[in-house]
Amino acid sequence: MTMDISTITPDAWQTLRDAAVAAMGRAYVPYSGYPVGAAVLVDDGRVVSGCNVENAAYGVTLCAECGMVSELINSGGGRLVAFACVNKVGEPIAPCGRCRQLLFEHGGRSLLLAMPSGTMTLDQAMPDGFGRDDLDRIKER
Ligand code: THU
Repeated sequence: MTMDISTITPDAWQTLRDAAVAAMGRAYVPYSGYPVGAAVLVDDGRVVSGCNVENAAYGVTLCAECGMVSELINSGGGRLVAFACVNKVGEPIAPCGRCRQLLFEHGGRSLLLAMPSGTMTLDQAMPDGFGRDDLDRIKER
């Protein structure tokens, strides 16, 4: 299923923001004190979410998007359609570079992102992304 920006209603965006805020409230952030919640609409209508989980070994920290993608796969998979991520006060934040790559794997170029500057596609947020197509293209050579 493909969806363009007009397909995602204001209510659907609000549902995503609410799910992201709820997940943010469950974050484990004893080191940064910066809780993050992420939520995404899947192409079958599911909403899955995640929160960041930090670690005493700082580099092992799991971003909110990592938990969200784990929940996506563990609840049946599917393609990501629209994504929202929030900070402690519920403002939209930009997914970090590593998490854009996670989103690319499961949502591709057309995934819609609620960014601080407004709605954009993942292709706009991460042009010329590397993905499965690149692996497939070289397989027979
Ligand atoms: N963080 C996320 O959960 N997602 C992002 O895309 C940006 C950063 C978390 C990681 C860390 O726990 C905290 O925000 C501060 O960097």
